[in-house]
Parts: sequence; C-alpha cells; structure tokens
Amino acid sequence: MSDIRCIGIATGGGDAPGLNAVIRAATKAAILKYKWKVIGIPDGFDGLIWPEKSFELTLDKVSGILPRGGTILGTTNRGNPFKYKTEENGKEVTRDISDQVIANAAKLGIDAIITIGGDGSQKIGLELFQKGVKIVGVPKTIDNDLSATELTFGFDTAIHTVTDAIDKIHTTAASHHRVFVIEVMGRDCGWIALAAGIAGGAHVILIPEIPFSIKAICESIAEREKLGKHFTIVVVAEGIKLPQELKQMSRGWPVGNTIGDAIGLFSNKEVRVSVLGHIQRGGSPSPYDRVLATRFGVAAVDLLAEGAFGKMVALRAASIVAVDIARAIGHLKTVDPDGELVSTARAVGIGFGD
Ligand code: F6P
Repeated sequence: MSDIRCIGIATGGGDAPGLNAVIRAATKAAILKYKWKVIGIPDGFDGLIWPEKSFELTLDKVSGILPRGGTILGTTNRGNPFKYKTEENGKEVTRDISDQVIANAAKLGIDAIITIGGDGSQKIGLELFQKGVKIVGVPKTIDNDLSATELTFGFDTAIHTVTDAIDKIHTTAASHHRVFVIEVMGRDCGWIALAAGIAGGAHVILIPEIPFSIKAICESIAEREKLGKHFTIVVVAEGIKLPQELKQMSRGWPVGNTIGDAIGLFSNKEVRVSVLGHIQRGGSPSPYDRVLATRFGVAAVDLLAEGAFGKMVALRAASIVAVDIARAIGHLKTVDPDGELVSTARAVGIGFGD
C-alpha cells in the first residue's frame, strides 16, 4: 500500500468523449474509497508550470460531468515539460522544465499523478516516473491505435458519430446518384474508417494499412453501376498513403478532396466530398465509453493505492489490467489487412481499392 494523501489528474493531447467520465470516476474513487484529496491540473501539464491554475476537484466539481464531451480540465497537444517551447530575447527556445514541474507538484501537495492521454502524454508520464514521480496512466484516443489496450474510450462514440453521418449521406447519395467520399479521422490507422464503414454500409473503404489505386475504386463504382446502383459511398481514413499517381494532383489536406477529384476525373460520376473532422471527437460519450472510462478511472486510483507506479491501465480480454507504460508506448495497433474484420468486410462486398 502507498502513503498517498493527495493526487493530481491531468488530461493531455487531443480530447476524446469519455475524458470527463474518467476524471469523475478517479475523483470519486479517490475521495470515497481512499479519503484522498484530488487536484485538477489544467491544460495538460500547464497547471504544473503555472500551479496557481490548478484547483481542487471535489465531489461537487465532478457532479454532472459523466455525459459531457471534452474535458473540464482542458487539454493541449503542446506543453511537454521536457521540451518546453518558450520565447527568450525574441527567439523561440526549447527548455527542459521538468524539475520545475515536479517542484510545483510537491508545492501543491500532490503525491501522485494520473495522466490521461495518448502516446505523447504517456511518454511524458514515463519520463516523469523515471525522475521519481508516482505516475499511473490512462490511455486515450478516438483512433483506438494503442497496441497495449484492446480498446480506448472515445472510439465507440466516434464510430457512432461517423455511422450516423454515413447513414445520413447514404440517402442523399442515393437520391442524387452521386459518389460520396467521406473522410474520417485516423492519423496512422484505419480503425474508425473500417468499423464505421462496415456499420454504415460503405461500398469502398480506404485505410492507411491497405495500398489502393483509383483504377480499382473506379472499377468498384462501375460494377455498382452495372447492377443498377447509381451511387457509391467511399469512406477514407485521413491517414491514407496516396499512390504516386495521385501525389501530383493532391490539393494537400484534406486528403478526401484529392480522392474526390480523382474519382470525378476517372469515373464520369458526380462526386461530393464530406470531411467529418472534429465532430468525431465531440459529443456525449456512448454508454460503452462511459463504462470503460469509469473502469479505467477507478482502476488507475486502485493502482496508485497499491503503489503500482509507472503502470498504465488497459483493456485485455474484457478485463482491466495494468501494463508498464514503458512497454505500452511507441507501438501502434494497426489494422491487419488479412485479419478477420477486413475479410468480413470483403465478404459482404466492400472494396478496399486494392
Ligand atoms: O489522434 C487523434 C486525432 O483525432 C487524429 O485522428 C487526428 O489526426 C488528430 O487527432 C487531430 O488533431 P488536432 O485536434 O490537433 O487537429
């Protein structure tokens, strides 16, 4: 057992539905189960760079936040205390201010910290742990691409949002006999595109893990035409790697525009592009995400109580387990092109442009 009396909670990186559910669960478990005090650290680690920004999380403060999207603590994808960018004499310089951050945590009376975040935030947590800070991590990303955990909260909500969007686009695509390109998030991996594409009845899904050609996509569209299906839904993960032929005609970000342009050019069909963007990160977490986030939050507090520092909670075989942060970070969980989910999609006629 550890001798903790006060913990800090920080959320870092891009937000995801369910962050508030973790904050609430960890705060409640810390106060109700262990009688600890809880400090909310705003905007990643900024609340430890400027400790006056940090504030106590009471039961009242976390009341009513379970269904809310975003994070009441705020977040940032900058603010790494080991590589802190600041301006000195009109020039941008990078400094290691981790000692200051650690000293400020001690000044606030914080004995241990829960870092809720993706790979980048967990890496910062690991480096702080290596400097003696008592850290436990909670993984987060709507992309669901962390290999240490089978699922991250936020993913289920995101695929609900995307599926709903595909359903809505389906009817307008069918009515106008158009091809619709729907670009979804997934910087490195195609999980959102694949899951929501299957759930939404997409006809073609493009993901970073499967090389594709415009020719193959246009063939899928032509085959549908022959069957009297005069519309096609193409779901595109933002992280796809453009084939050489398309690199020249790329309009840059968002990549969905390039795919739309190319299909329009080679298929003789009217094409529209819809980039879903950050609506995928917003909204109220789904019941599944609320439950997973609550389990993660409570498990993180239990790990701190056990003195299991330097660990991250994870979901494996339906159970919450603890993994070493050091082993958890830096490994992407990519879609297996020969895996069951892709072959299931192929079996129901979904093309991958290959
Ligand atoms: O990693 C999660 C993610 O949503 C990616 O899918 C996306 O590329 C990125 O974050 C967007 O980040 P930002 O909010 O900084 O634009």
